[in-house]
Amino acid sequence: MVEPIRLTTRQQRDDLIKAAHYNPFLLSAEDVIIDLLTDSGTSAMSAEAWGAMICGDESYAGARSWYRFRDTVKDIFGFDQIIPTHQGRAAERILFGILVQSDSIVPNNTHFDTTRANIEFCGGRALDIPCAEADDLDSDYPFKGNIDLVALEQIVAEKGANRIPLIMVTVTNNSGGGQPVSMANIREISRIANSAGIPFYIDACRFAENAHFIKRREPGYENTPTIEIAREMFKYADGCTMSAKKDAFANIGGFLCTNDANLAQQERNLLILTEGFPTYGGLAGRDLDAIAVGLREILDENYLDYRLLSTRYVVQHLRDAGIPVVAPAGGHAVYLDARRFLPHIESLQYPGQSLAVELYREAGIRGVEIGSVMFGADPHSGEERAARLELVRLAIPRRVYTQSHMDYVLEGINLVWERREDIRGMRIVRAPKFLRHFTAEFDWI
Ligand SMILES: Cc1ncc(COP(=O)(O)O)c(C=O)c1O
Repeated sequence: MVEPIRLTTRQQRDDLIKAAHYNPFLLSAEDVIIDLLTDSGTSAMSAEAWGAMICGDESYAGARSWYRFRDTVKDIFGFDQIIPTHQGRAAERILFGILVQSDSIVPNNTHFDTTRANIEFCGGRALDIPCAEADDLDSDYPFKGNIDLVALEQIVAEKGANRIPLIMVTVTNNSGGGQPVSMANIREISRIANSAGIPFYIDACRFAENAHFIKRREPGYENTPTIEIAREMFKYADGCTMSAKKDAFANIGGFLCTNDANLAQQERNLLILTEGFPTYGGLAGRDLDAIAVGLREILDENYLDYRLLSTRYVVQHLRDAGIPVVAPAGGHAVYLDARRFLPHIESLQYPGQSLAVELYREAGIRGVEIGSVMFGADPHSGEERAARLELVRLAIPRRVYTQSHMDYVLEGINLVWERREDIRGMRIVRAPKFLRHFTAEFDWI
């Protein structure tokens, strides 16, 4: 897929971001030069995926597209029960709507925004317990996405299965720098969950990137095909939630899996209420076909090598220029460390938001704050607290941008870095209670 990039001037961008209340989500896409807002649904699909879409079977129930989708998901993920949904958060809403109650606690390495919000919306508490190594953003520790196993055991011992309806791990850890989780860690989480009788779920959005990191970084897996590594990851779990907008190259789609037939029955009942019949979820037959093709393509090891190396290229150049960035490079995105980039701006003046706005003003680059705007407000008490990390995520859509686009991004970041001392903090003018970063309005302090 090829599309033109419309170039804007600095003056135009100053006016556009002001009109968007300094929230890059509120910009029109055509006013963005390089769009790194998300890797979700923004990948370029292949000729094969487009071809499969033409063959989509739009029968209401039991369509051929459904069987192609189901068989592919079953082959890679291995779960007995497969429930299609229109995207990842629909799977989350259905799962948590059944399992999470008002005193529930759900541990995870780091919950992503929709996961956290869906748990909190059900009255539960979304608990992040990343491993200690994740705190040092500069170190090259290979599996910073790991869960803190000691903390997990402690919480399970203290709260027990009654309070913990499920344990999750997010692969790769999106809010924690796109860092992978090791197989050893997944195995241990599974052991802890099993011995306490708690179901273990994987948030599988970027499962192929995680599996490939295991191949490249975890001793013992160097000669194992990435697809086999993926199968092993899911063998340790009782279920998964998946957004096919990431590691399935699809523009829309997702699914929910479990081995528990009773639970799946309840989930299908909820699915029919708001998503659709159980053989299409909220999707068209052609979407199911695109996902089936994308799930195969994503496991191409040459593609995965290219993907991980191209992210590393950007991170390496930033590190060489002394610009603070989360290391080592993750899979799908580059994460600028706004706390160290703008040390003169305190957390509740949102350094990540200022940096995201400046990247747009300088070069028309759109990224997203992952810090105290996204995670700083308790939706129940309204209380504000600094987030653990203040990051700006530059997510790289799959198979879209070239190295020259990334060189342009590097130049833009460098220009902002050179004038960093003059950048001011921001305040929130207006924001909703849940998932406020999508629509909040800001102004300069
Ligand atoms: C780790 C993670 N989980 C869940 C989701 C939600 O998926 P969706 O956007 O398809 O609802 C996302 C999306 O960005 C994600 O990155």
